[in-house]
Amino acid sequence: MRSDLNVPLEDGEVSDDFRLRSALPTLERLVASGAAVTVCSHLGRPKGVDPGLSLEVVARRMDELSDYDVRFETAGDITVLENTRFLQGETSNEPDTARQMAEGFDLFVQDAFGSVHRAHASTVGVAELIESAAGPLLDAELAALGRFLGEPDRPYTVVLGGAKVSDKLGVIENLLPRVDRMLVGGGMCFTFLSAQGMGVGRSLVQEDMLGTVCDLLEGPDAHKIVLPVDIAVGEEFSESATRHIVLASEIPDDSIGLDIGPETGAGYWELIGSSASVFWNGPMGVFEWESFRNGTEHIARAMADCDGFTVVGGGDSAAALRLLGLEGAVSHLSTGGGAGLELLEGRILPGVAVLERWVR
Ligand code: 3PG
Ligand code: MG
Repeated sequence: MRSDLNVPLEDGEVSDDFRLRSALPTLERLVASGAAVTVCSHLGRPKGVDPGLSLEVVARRMDELSDYDVRFETAGDITVLENTRFLQGETSNEPDTARQMAEGFDLFVQDAFGSVHRAHASTVGVAELIESAAGPLLDAELAALGRFLGEPDRPYTVVLGGAKVSDKLGVIENLLPRVDRMLVGGGMCFTFLSAQGMGVGRSLVQEDMLGTVCDLLEGPDAHKIVLPVDIAVGEEFSESATRHIVLASEIPDDSIGLDIGPETGAGYWELIGSSASVFWNGPMGVFEWESFRNGTEHIARAMADCDGFTVVGGGDSAAALRLLGLEGAVSHLSTGGGAGLELLEGRILPGVAVLERWVR
């Protein structure tokens, strides 16, 4: 099985095991049905072998989480292999590497939703060689996120945050025609405010995106774009910066926008609450810092309160939910970051497309 066991590490230990808890049910189901189960994944972005990115600590945490015996590189109920990216030919999907991975196995289960946007040996190459199937986590992710590309119940709202407009542009362009409203926050909102001609002080602006954002703000769906009316600013990009609330149109020249303001948070909460389908990706501010967490917290609580179909994607938004103990309070919390965004951009996911040849 290919899972996405690419989890954050801190001081050599797993600091967030959400992806491991998500991967285990499929592995356990396979063991319970009598299969000899081996799982592989990448971890981080090593260039060659890097002992700091060994899956050994991941296997250890999985063993703690599971009643089954999970072993690293030796036979257990579940055997975890070493980081696929230690193998030359993994990311370039070399036929020899894929053959080496597939050797000795009868079946391949693709359950690594977070990795299916990569055309690597462990996501595509192996599935070309031996009989393969989508696992239940992958199926559930495709079904949940896929609803936002179809005809979700309305009002249909998308909430986007995070630092860069460029990371979200594909999603904005594909979803804006479909949604009823798109709420914008996070670092990327300053490029929108700047494109509207507002002064944003020393806030993050992607100058090279201003033209594109202007086109969006003048396009046929411009009325769906909702921007902050107030901003929490600080005098510097620092955890100890003093929080001041200003109107979005009155950001002082010498300050930096670090979160959406409380009026914006309350407004977004209402719009989310009155929606029947909501997708959220990306924090509204620097939520790791307590003084600039308020906006992201508003969105997380609004998502949890909403009676509609709510899906949260991306590691930061998921971490914010977890911080507030709201992980289980949304309809679906995605294990995917980039993969979910690429799906919502309308792009073909190579790790999914390759499975079609095996559909009977
Ligand atoms: C992720 O964390 O988004 C996936 O595991 C993919 O990782 P990658 O961007 O290094 O391919
Ligand atoms: Mg165990």
